[in-house]
Amino acid sequence: MIPRRDVDFGLDPAAVPRDWAAGCPYATTMLAGLSLLFPEGERFFVDSVKQLRHEVDDPALREAIAGFIGQEAMHGREHRVLNDISAAHGHAEAAMVERRLRGLLDLARRVLPKRSQLAVTCALEHFTAILAENLLGDPRQQADLDPSVRALWMWHALEESEHKAVAFDVYRAAGGGYWRRATTMLYTTAIFFAVLGLVQARMMVTRRVLWKPWTWTRGVRTMWLYPAYFTRMVPAYLDYFRPRFHPNDRDTDALLARWRDALFGADGALVDRAAA
Ligand SMILES: [Fe+2]
Ligand SMILES: [Fe+2]
Repeated sequence: MIPRRDVDFGLDPAAVPRDWAAGCPYATTMLAGLSLLFPEGERFFVDSVKQLRHEVDDPALREAIAGFIGQEAMHGREHRVLNDISAAHGHAEAAMVERRLRGLLDLARRVLPKRSQLAVTCALEHFTAILAENLLGDPRQQADLDPSVRALWMWHALEESEHKAVAFDVYRAAGGGYWRRATTMLYTTAIFFAVLGLVQARMMVTRRVLWKPWTWTRGVRTMWLYPAYFTRMVPAYLDYFRPRFHPNDRDTDALLARWRDALFGADGALVDRAAA
């Protein structure tokens, strides 16, 4: 079962430092940029699943779809709060980023067939699943997040991992095939990194660090060379191109059980913040 958890983080703008990821402007603008993409992006995911859910007969998958929709809606809501904090930190471009992304996704809604829209969702859900698995399993990445925002990211990671197969299973139930899935992943990867790169660069301009080579070297080293948070995800990314790939091929059950307990167990960090 995929539970919808109504968690109110009550993020306090005064408690969130400006560089809340690794104390580093490069890492912070990258994650804050990603967060800016979530509300509109996740709304697109939900819509693409909704438009094809009538193709699903399996009652278990129908129930999973309901859980998926509930979880993504909550993520959008809480990331908006974080995005407002970015705006309060001086990132006036946050609203413009959301507006432009909405325009891009509306274009995708108009020009892409429904199955391809869902294939875009499957591709991006694969990204979030890989990012989530890495964060959940790596204490160093967790420690890099400021305590004021850590629980938000851990909760989102937990739920991305919980529902990682839903869009994929709907895609298959709706008759989606391999070639569409693989080619969609290729162009979605290109567009996603172009968009994220532009958003991050824009935020680095505001943060006045775009032209500081030391910020770049340190950030690029951390992400791509050592500890290489991004580079080490490449094999998991490439796995998507196997014709018989399924998101559940990567067994994350034990990891999820541990985090469900840590966040929502009897002494969980978030039990008090989750509405019944
Ligand atoms: Fe999400
Ligand atoms: Fe998701």
